[in-house]
Amino acid sequence: MTTLNNKVAVVTGASKGIGAGIARVFARQGASVVLAARGADVLDLAAELRAEGCEATGVQCDVTDPRDCKRLARTAVESYGRIDILDCNAGICRLGNFLDENDSWRDAHVNVNINGVWNACKSVIPEIVRAGGGAVVITSSVTGDLVADPGEAAYAMTKAALVGLTKALAREFADRNVRVNCICPGYIRTPLVEGMAEQSDPDNPERAIDEIARAVPLGRLGTPEECGQLCAFLASDDASYITGAQVVIDGGSTLPETTSMGQ
Ligand code: NAI
Repeated sequence: MTTLNNKVAVVTGASKGIGAGIARVFARQGASVVLAARGADVLDLAAELRAEGCEATGVQCDVTDPRDCKRLARTAVESYGRIDILDCNAGICRLGNFLDENDSWRDAHVNVNINGVWNACKSVIPEIVRAGGGAVVITSSVTGDLVADPGEAAYAMTKAALVGLTKALAREFADRNVRVNCICPGYIRTPLVEGMAEQSDPDNPERAIDEIARAVPLGRLGTPEECGQLCAFLASDDASYITGAQVVIDGGSTLPETTSMGQ
C-alpha cells in the first residue's frame, strides 16, 4: 500500500473540497502536512487532523500573492525541516458567457488557477530540490485539455495551461529528481460543485447532482478522498518512474461513446 511516512507535504486549497480530501489522505498515510488556503477554516482542518494524531499545520495563504507563497514554504521548512511534496490544488471555477463577461472574469481565473500554481511552484520547488528531490502534483481538470462546455472559456483555458506547465516542469526538473504530474478530475462532489448544482436548480440541487451522476458511466460523482488517494500515489515513491503524466479521474465520463453497435 502507498505510504507517505516521513514525507513533508504542502497542499494548497486545503480547507475544503478536493484539497481537504488530499490533505486528509496525506496526513493519514503518515505525511506531515502543511495545509494552505485563503480562509481561517484551514486552521480548523489542521486542528482536526492533529486531534486524530496526525502531523498538520494550517497556514492562511492566498496563492495569487507570491509573498504569501514564500511565507508558506518558509513555514513548512521551519515546522518540519524540509519539503518533499507540493500539491497545487487551489483553484476557482465560475461559469459565464464569453461575450457577456468582462476581462476581470478571465483575470480572476488566470490569477488563481495559473499564477497561483506558478507562485507555489516557484516558492516550494527550490525546497524540494534542496531536500534531494520529491514530487509535485497539480490539479488540472478534464475541462480544458480533454473536454469543454459552453460557459467554461476562462476555466478551460487555465486548466489546459496547467497540463502544459506540468509537462514543462517535469522536463525541467527531472535531472534534480523532482517528478511533476497532474490529475484531471471529472465531477467530484465538493462545495464548488454543490454551489453549481444550487445555481442550476435552486429548488432541488440534489436533482441537479443526480442528473450529473446519471451522465457518468460509474453512475456517481467522485469523492475528494478518491482524488486524495490518486495524489498520494503520484506523490509517493511507488510512482517513482511517473513524471509529466496527466491522470484522469472521472468515473469514465470522458470515455468516447460509440455509435457503431459494438463494432
Ligand atoms: P472548492 O471551491 O470546494 O475548494 C477550493 C479550495 O481552494 C478552497 O480551500 C479555497 O480556500 C482554495 N482557494 C481558492 N482560491 C484560493 C487562493 N487564491 N489562495 C489559496 N487558496 C484558494 O473547490 P474544489 O471543487 O475542491 O476544487 C479544487 C480544485 O479541483 C480546483 O483547482 C478545481 O478547479 C479542481 N477541480 C474540481 C472539480 C470538481 O468537480 N470539484 C473537477 C475538476 C477540477
